[in-house]
Amino acid sequence: TPVVVAVDGPSGSGKSSVCRRVASRRGLAYLDTGAMYRAATWWCLEQGVDLDDGDAVAEAVRSMPLVVGVDPAGPTFHVDGTDVGEAIRGSAISTVVSRVATNLRARAELGDRQRHLIAVERDGGFSGGRGVVAEGRDITTVIAPDADVRLLLTASEEVRLARRATELHGQAGAAAVEATRDQVVRRDREDSTVVDFLTAADGVVTVDSSTLDLEETVEAVLAVVDE
Ligand code: CDP
Repeated sequence: TPVVVAVDGPSGSGKSSVCRRVASRRGLAYLDTGAMYRAATWWCLEQGVDLDDGDAVAEAVRSMPLVVGVDPAGPTFHVDGTDVGEAIRGSAISTVVSRVATNLRARAELGDRQRHLIAVERDGGFSGGRGVVAEGRDITTVIAPDADVRLLLTASEEVRLARRATELHGQAGAAAVEATRDQVVRRDREDSTVVDFLTAADGVVTVDSSTLDLEETVEAVLAVVDE
């Protein structure tokens, strides 16, 4: 089993569900870097930081007391002692997280922490140094370009919208899909101004999950991991 598995992809590609299961099945730690951007956004709002003030955002993120748990059976995120695991999934965060994620100094700070977390798991942490699956938007390219396995998980926009609508509204009818479009499409457009997560970099294997269900996607990713 490889030591570091890096996975990138757009929203609704199924990254989180797939990566958690892959990590569990191979005894690897699981690092959700998107949750770190969400936690940083939660912290900025909690501190009353104006998200239009780039200096204030960067400073808040630098001083954020974030503790990340990387057990794939139950990843955890605590900021200044508060369990933010649920709060960071709400639309109050989802609709503004790109404002923090497009701040280059915030990215540099979170990127340093992510490299550190990956190094700890690679060299001996939760999983006794057995390794880590790290997922996000820039893991294969910026954070861990030297990972043993690098994957881009994609799906058509239509499929990604339907998946996210089902997650948020319990169904993927026309109204639910429209209510989700802003979150998925606009957020990806904003995010892609600072990171390219739609094209596979050199050496990155693409897995298209458009016609695969969750278990089939897990199997497809495991096949690449086990190569
Ligand atoms: O679950 P979903 O794919 O919708 O989003 P996420 O993985 O929780 O990531 C939330 C946000 O964090 C993204 O929309 C990006 O703005 C940001 N992000 C990033 O910029 N770089 C990463 N490596 C991971 C997430």
